[in-house]
Amino acid sequence: MNAHLSIGELAARSGLAPSALRYYEELGLIHADRTAGGRRVFARQTLRRVAFIRAAQAVGLSLEEARAAMAGLPVDRSPTSAEWRPVATSWQARIDEQIADLQRLRDHLTGCIGCGCLSLGKCALYNPHDVQGAQGPGARKLLARHARSV
Ligand code: FES
Repeated sequence: MNAHLSIGELAARSGLAPSALRYYEELGLIHADRTAGGRRVFARQTLRRVAFIRAAQAVGLSLEEARAAMAGLPVDRSPTSAEWRPVATSWQARIDEQIADLQRLRDHLTGCIGCGCLSLGKCALYNPHDVQGAQGPGARKLLARHARSV
């Protein structure tokens, strides 16, 4: 069995596009060596790291959060249950929060049915927990968009 995978093989085995794998490499989430001809080759255990990233994303973690979570796990072997437990525990709390958020959203959805206002002031779908209001007064989204465009 070959100890390394080409990017095409890693893509086929992981279900991700080669472009996504190159992006993960660019972010430092996975590592590729180069052949003498400059082709990327990935250690076989990269499959496990990619699976971890996909699981983290399924939980709702950003790629940066996935990277932070992976920092405490071994690169060259499967994590032991003792190594895995703190990560899984933190994910469980995250999933519980998401469930609670979705239940709150479902409970407030009744007011939105047939409404369509998407009001910052009263719509729990558009502005759950009044997140926009907690960030201060004014048209912050508009101002932020303008600041990015200049
Ligand atoms: S769409 Fe009007 S309250 Fe949500």
